[in-house]
Amino acid sequence: MNKSRKLSIYERNQLLKYSLQEADLLTKGDLPVEYLTGFVEFKNLEFKINRNVLIPRVETEELVDLMKNFVNSLEEKISYLEVGVGSGVISLSFLDFLLKSHKKNFLVEKFLLADISSEALSVAKENLFRLFPKKLPFLVEFLISDLLNDLSKQKFNLIAANLPYIPSSLMMNLDKSVKDYEPNLALDGGEDGFVLIAELIDQIIDGDFLSQNGKIFLEVHESHTIDFLKKKYPQILQKFLIKEIKDQFRRHRFLILQKL
Ligand SMILES: C[S@@+](CC[C@H](N)C(=O)[O-])C[C@H]1O[C@@H](n2cnc3c(N)ncnc32)[C@H](O)[C@@H]1O
Repeated sequence: MNKSRKLSIYERNQLLKYSLQEADLLTKGDLPVEYLTGFVEFKNLEFKINRNVLIPRVETEELVDLMKNFVNSLEEKISYLEVGVGSGVISLSFLDFLLKSHKKNFLVEKFLLADISSEALSVAKENLFRLFPKKLPFLVEFLISDLLNDLSKQKFNLIAANLPYIPSSLMMNLDKSVKDYEPNLALDGGEDGFVLIAELIDQIIDGDFLSQNGKIFLEVHESHTIDFLKKKYPQILQKFLIKEIKDQFRRHRFLILQKL
């Protein structure tokens, strides 16, 4: 029994909701409650998760809101890609919005969900079938791929990614409940935390994957500001108009890239 662990109101409520006892969690070290219940709420939908995927964070819901605003003003059919899908929270809550929207009849040409981890994609697939048991008006495709390495040549007008962005040197400072339980593959973003994201952007440029009116929506570390890009990745600023956005905790968190 972990006697020093004090359960939060949220943890207690989660245990109650899934008919679990406090002792079930207190005997599991620093295990996050979500890995015990196996569920997380995101955008009012209940997602199944396990230890092969990151526990979705509340800030990430705001990335979905930014994507919604963008497609509300988009004239063309949606051609959508997410890289690093994990449990599927971003794409599947966005899908839920597209299907339920009363404002606009969204036409979707492509809806592709990619991750390097086949285990993560299995979780995302399971969530698709649980949340959308009825036949969908378009195909939702899944692809195991290291970034865009296994993608055929095609164009998207919305590319979303919440790739690992913690700088490697900060990994050891993470809370035990994070570093000992969540997958390293979902957290470690390399030396400056931007290694994978920069590689994704390079691949998008080199393979011409973004359509002229398209946008890239990224969740990033608080250190990944435009000033950081100016110093370390000036080539990105030569290709894109970039907007930086704070999250609800007033921390720099999102970048939206638009072709120049
Ligand atoms: C921070 S998690 C985000 C998961 C989910 N999108 C979310 O917002 O909760 C990052 C995801 O990127 C995936 N990933 C890591 N390296 C990758 C790579 N080289 N190519 C594609 N996906 C990668 C991980 O498997 C993980 O599922």
